[in-house]
Amino acid sequence: MLLSLLSAVALSAAPITMTLEPSADAPMIQKEIYGQFAEHLGGCIYGGIWVGPESSIPNTDGYRNDVLQAMRELQIPVLRWPGGCFADEYHWMDGIGPRSERPRMVNNNWGGTVEDNSFGTNEFFNLCEMLGIEPYLSGNVGSGTVAELAQWVEYITAEDGPMARLRKQNGREKPWHLKYLGVGNESWGCGGNFTPDYYANVYRRYQTYCRNFNGNHLYKIASGASDYDYNWTEVMMKNAGHHMDGISLHYYTVTGWSGSKGAATNFTEDDYYWTLGKCLEVGDVVKKHCDIMDKYDPKGRVGLLVDEWGTWWDEEPGTVPGHLYQQNTMRDAMVAALSLNTFHNFTKRVKMTNIAQFANVLQAMLLTKDDQMVLTPTYYVFKMYVPHQDAQFVPFQIDSPMRDVRDNRQVPIVSATASVKDGVYTISLANTDLKEAQTVQIPLGTLIKKPSVSGEILTASDMAVYNDFGKAEAVTLKPFTSAKVDKNGLLTVTLPALSIVTLSVK
Ligand code: AHR
Repeated sequence: MLLSLLSAVALSAAPITMTLEPSADAPMIQKEIYGQFAEHLGGCIYGGIWVGPESSIPNTDGYRNDVLQAMRELQIPVLRWPGGCFADEYHWMDGIGPRSERPRMVNNNWGGTVEDNSFGTNEFFNLCEMLGIEPYLSGNVGSGTVAELAQWVEYITAEDGPMARLRKQNGREKPWHLKYLGVGNESWGCGGNFTPDYYANVYRRYQTYCRNFNGNHLYKIASGASDYDYNWTEVMMKNAGHHMDGISLHYYTVTGWSGSKGAATNFTEDDYYWTLGKCLEVGDVVKKHCDIMDKYDPKGRVGLLVDEWGTWWDEEPGTVPGHLYQQNTMRDAMVAALSLNTFHNFTKRVKMTNIAQFANVLQAMLLTKDDQMVLTPTYYVFKMYVPHQDAQFVPFQIDSPMRDVRDNRQVPIVSATASVKDGVYTISLANTDLKEAQTVQIPLGTLIKKPSVSGEILTASDMAVYNDFGKAEAVTLKPFTSAKVDKNGLLTVTLPALSIVTLSVK
């Protein structure tokens, strides 16, 4: 762990020092760390991304124009689809061909909603191609067959043969590109309730028949553990490690799986700090899974992909049960910043993460209501962190005091991360304290001659502030002007309470 933190101390107003220690050996922050997840769940696909070409909502070939624009601005590197739990009940052949002839289906996982299959393989791959997004396909293992998954890969990537002919009949001549292939989802739960020993064998079998056609090269991902289930990773690495390129991990910031999870917009200061402690625990969890992977794969060939993470609150009152629609406040923004800061510390092994989910579900980037769209505080964190994509991680020391929070966890007063690309340093700082401004000093003299600094800030007057339909944005990015460099190259940054800042230094 590159972050050095003091043990719990009384909060002090003394400046916090952050020392950058760039190293040629530091890992790259693979852009896929900024991945998104779009499941057939509530309004994520239907109404969120897809309205169909006949819709009165402005769209391009059926994709909402406002959402396309938001996707472009986030420079989404990778998009996971079609689930989630949905993936293990999805039969892809129902989602190809003329839309009017596609069968309807019941989304048994998510509210029993009937879907018309109008968003299927062609619609997903065309979207990714249009936006330069790497598709991440989640295959059906739970209720599907080996042949069904093998044929899906063939339909998408083969130049010739029966599945390629079917694709061509459906109007797509050239194969698409497919790198990331998930073999099942949560196979310990909604994806089949397998034991790890049994799933390891099933995984080995399925992946055998998912072929590399015509120069396309699959990166095969085994369904991984939930949170603290280290035995799953152990058994999978031992029994199937040689057959995979990556294994997933799901970690939600959630109070528990039974009973109320708490309201997204109505919570106490104690809840706020607890949330940050829980989200930061992903660092310990990732480390423990990495330690197991190191045992079986010391060279680090197999990636750990945190392909579902984020906050999970109670559904908003009055919304469709099972659609997981929740609002998104400055608390969620803080979770996004602290989680991304943490993932940066593990990019030797963590090659992708996918926040759940892109639109209208859980910790979403955006919410839609008919023709309106709202960008959430979490969206703005992802936007301000874009410069970290494919940049080199910059190791650092920071002497932030720690706050003790509920459940024996600790939260740094200031959480930070840094990266460098093309000689430009990007430094992100989050002041988690709800009341006090914090001063951070960063000596730059030895790194950059005559540094110049610009920045952006996301902050709000209250932890529960959110953006809502029909109202001016309450949380949005603003230029940050409280960063000054003195003649010795000492950068002094004054962070308001409850704020997230990204600085660009060159
Ligand atoms: O993201 C919502 C659900 O959470 C996913 O479908 C599932 O994989 C996880 O349990």
